[in-house]
Amino acid sequence: MLAKSNASQQRAVQASRKITDAQLGVHQNLERLVVKHFTTSFQKPIAQHTQDAFDAIKKQVATSLAKGHTLIFDSCCGTAMSTGIIAQQNPQALVVGIDRSAVRLSKEYNKSKPNNVLLVQAECADFWSLAVAEGWKLEKHYILYPNPYPKSKHLKRRWHGHAAFPLLFSLGGELELRSNWSVYVNEFCLALKIVVDKNLVEKSNGEPRVQTVEPVTPLTLFEKKYQQSGQSLYRCKFRL
Ligand SMILES: C[S@@+](CC[C@H](N)C(=O)[O-])C[C@H]1O[C@@H](n2cnc3c(N)ncnc32)[C@H](O)[C@@H]1O
Repeated sequence: MLAKSNASQQRAVQASRKITDAQLGVHQNLERLVVKHFTTSFQKPIAQHTQDAFDAIKKQVATSLAKGHTLIFDSCCGTAMSTGIIAQQNPQALVVGIDRSAVRLSKEYNKSKPNNVLLVQAECADFWSLAVAEGWKLEKHYILYPNPYPKSKHLKRRWHGHAAFPLLFSLGGELELRSNWSVYVNEFCLALKIVVDKNLVEKSNGEPRVQTVEPVTPLTLFEKKYQQSGQSLYRCKFRL
């Protein structure tokens, strides 16, 4: 029992540790990769568990949209603390929290959530692809503290280097990404600018910018840990 609590304390410290990694600035292959992903289509086969999860909520989302509700995604929601808060702040919306970890989604505190929350265990890229095919349009899209994958060779695992990046534009809405790793947010913001400047999408609104996250009430558990360890937090907000 003692060993277990030491291990979980260690995990908490690791999770709140500032990223000091090998990749120090924007990746040199970013532009090439973004352009490639916008000129080819996302063709990965959909994981069966994500297809099943999507099918299970499709009708509920359609009913909600038919009643005039809007749709918000909280992608990579982890324990879904943010999903609950966003749902309270947006009673007009159905807020879908998506995470691939059943363990995180099944935490005890997820059992009492506002009625306008749906939690889905799914792979985000596949889920976004199904949502685009279904014609869903988002009012807002949150991606809060995604796994940073800080090694240079892992650019393709970061969302802006991922083949699914164009799907974010198809889903639309006001996108907000947050991270404690400034390189991630700088790259994400630059990837958005590349898409806009090279006219890879039909139209765009405004200029993506990196901002710091003010130390207000934390939206997520990771944000809380980072704030408690005094780290600077960054975000990029953009209307897609
Ligand atoms: C660093 S945690 C942040 C969780 C939460 N947003 C927070 O701030 O507390 C990243 C989360 O992304 C999830 N995740 C990573 N890649 C994913 C993917 N491809 N599809 C769905 N979830 C993913 C992980 O399971 C994990 O819960």
